Amino acid sequence: MKNPRGFGSDNHSGAHPLILEALASVNEGHAPSYGTDEISVEAHGLFKQKFGAQTQVQFVFNGTAANVMCLRLACDSFHSVLCADISHLNVDECAAPEILGHCKLIPLKTLNGKITIEEARKALVRKGDQHYAQPRMLSITQPTELGTVYTYEEMRNLISWAKSEGLLVHIDGARFANATLLLGKTFKELSTDLGVDLISFGGTKNGLVFGEAVVILNPDLKRRAPYIRKQLGQLPSKSRFVAAQFLAYLKNDLWKEIAAHSMKMAQHLRILVEDIPQVKVTQPTDSNAVFAIIPQDWVKNLKDQYFFYVWDELTFECRWMTSWDTQLEDIQGFAKALSQTQAEVNP
Ligand SMILES: Cc1ncc(COP(=O)(O)O)c(C=O)c1O
Repeated sequence: MKNPRGFGSDNHSGAHPLILEALASVNEGHAPSYGTDEISVEAHGLFKQKFGAQTQVQFVFNGTAANVMCLRLACDSFHSVLCADISHLNVDECAAPEILGHCKLIPLKTLNGKITIEEARKALVRKGDQHYAQPRMLSITQPTELGTVYTYEEMRNLISWAKSEGLLVHIDGARFANATLLLGKTFKELSTDLGVDLISFGGTKNGLVFGEAVVILNPDLKRRAPYIRKQLGQLPSKSRFVAAQFLAYLKNDLWKEIAAHSMKMAQHLRILVEDIPQVKVTQPTDSNAVFAIIPQDWVKNLKDQYFFYVWDELTFECRWMTSWDTQLEDIQGFAKALSQTQAEVNP
């Protein structure tokens, strides 16, 4: 079977060989289940090292579940969560955050995918009004859905504003490693030290086979976590297989290597495509995605060669995403296909 590499998503790629090795290494013999095995305990210890001693980690199967669990941990049924209008929470989770997370989402307009304090403030005008769902938490996607990254100052300001308003803070960090590396911070500096309460910490987009980690930094939210995870059907019984992947990912800085590579590939891609006439790059390329508008009649021909998604069907803004296994030759080949399509359609 030949699966050509494209630019569809960082979850189109396979697993990193070191992750597969880690999976195989825990496959021998028997081990206790439900998070009580040695590997799971070791992984919990490693998360504490990375995020701070008060950290509790709960592994789940996917990113939607991690988000839903974070919301459920924070919210009562009358609560609301402020999030970006384009956030995965709001757009791509089939209303699970509202139904299973027990809250109302308040989508906010964004600038380059980022929430601003100005917009967030508007959502608080009816705080304390019994007719209105009560704002409980701000959810930030870092990096954003548009591949942009909040700067350290932007994060600090937004989070300290949220805290001053009595809001909890959640990070949808499906690709948090990329932001952490780009900003030259540690995981702890970019979350715990800024006052973040909960993180959906990604694995699948970064070279794991599957698995995400709900990282609970606020001690008050810990007690309910094991029960809520179980109710949501997200307690892995063979938990060592998720834990082993995260151990391999966080140990020996594999996370840095993967983040650096996928982001470097996105930079290469941007440089090669932005000079092609009629390709209009639309977003800063901070993380591992390039967004660009191309003529509609280019799309089919290109997608047949290198798969990708049209992000906006009205403008034909496309998303080209790189991954841990993207190669320079993929990028050069894609840029060539773009140029050839341009020459054929507009000779
Ligand atoms: C920012 C973000 N959050 C959450 C998710 C959800 O992950 P999953 O598809 O594993 O449920 C995704 C998946 O694309 C994502 O990009």
